[in-house]
Amino acid sequence: MAKPKVITFANQKGGVGKTTSAVSTGHHLAKEGKEVLIVDFDPQGQCFTALGGNAENCVFNMLIQQSDPRQWVRETGRESLHIIPGNRTTATAQIVMSAENRPITAVQDVLKPLYKEYDYIIFDTAPSVGGLQERAVWASDLVVLPTATEYLSSDGLIQMMTTLTGLAEKGWKGKLAGILPTFYDTQTKQSQTAITQLQEYFPDSVLTPIHRATILRECAAEGMTIFEKSPKSRAAKEYAALADYLTTL
Ligand SMILES: Nc1ncnc2c1ncn2[C@@H]1O[C@H](COP(=O)(O)OP(=O)(O)O)[C@@H](O)[C@H]1O
Ligand SMILES: [Mg+2]
Repeated sequence: MAKPKVITFANQKGGVGKTTSAVSTGHHLAKEGKEVLIVDFDPQGQCFTALGGNAENCVFNMLIQQSDPRQWVRETGRESLHIIPGNRTTATAQIVMSAENRPITAVQDVLKPLYKEYDYIIFDTAPSVGGLQERAVWASDLVVLPTATEYLSSDGLIQMMTTLTGLAEKGWKGKLAGILPTFYDTQTKQSQTAITQLQEYFPDSVLTPIHRATILRECAAEGMTIFEKSPKSRAAKEYAALADYLTTL
């Protein structure tokens, strides 16, 4: 069976650009003619609103009913870009999964029937650790850790790295695609310091930064992606480059 490349965007911190990165990467790949499915594992359900849609309890239903996941796929109004949206009920699904002691393969198992239909499956995750994140990572070939460079948040990253190492010891076959510095601002000392320290702590793992760009905030508020709102912007070029790089890994 053909297998899609599965990519998770994760960081236990909120507001670091996970959702923006997941949606932008997904749309770029779709524009390149790939069939892309975004799965929103964050109970805040912001993936679909960032695409102009409505949060819905599809992730909950998919995880709890464990029936054919196709029925939970929604169209985004963009060619080749599909989504399984979530909302706050996703948190309940996470509790149920923990209570039922679902295996580490739970997310992979539930999505498998969809594999042959997509080239890429992209997981956006909640700003927390454990349950759903770990199971999403287990299902993933690549993990991207967006991290804001406004302040240094290496403690969160170290914890994520520990999680990845732990999963690798249990037989996880995927790998860290890299740490993605976001909100990069060449004008501020914090940003420069943060990048330098990231490179020190995590040599070879730091990806090309995404600059701070007000237009990305406007995109999310208006339900448009950067490729629709401002395809020639630096932010669009940076996200296109990230997505293209991920296809090479
Ligand atoms: N590079 C950036 N520059 C400016 N604003 C950004 C950037 N990336 C994301 N944002 C905005 O910052 C907020 C948090 O980003 P988001 O992607 O939702 O983070 P997370 O999913 O990690 O919580 C959103 O309003 C988003 O539009
Ligand atoms: Mg988010």
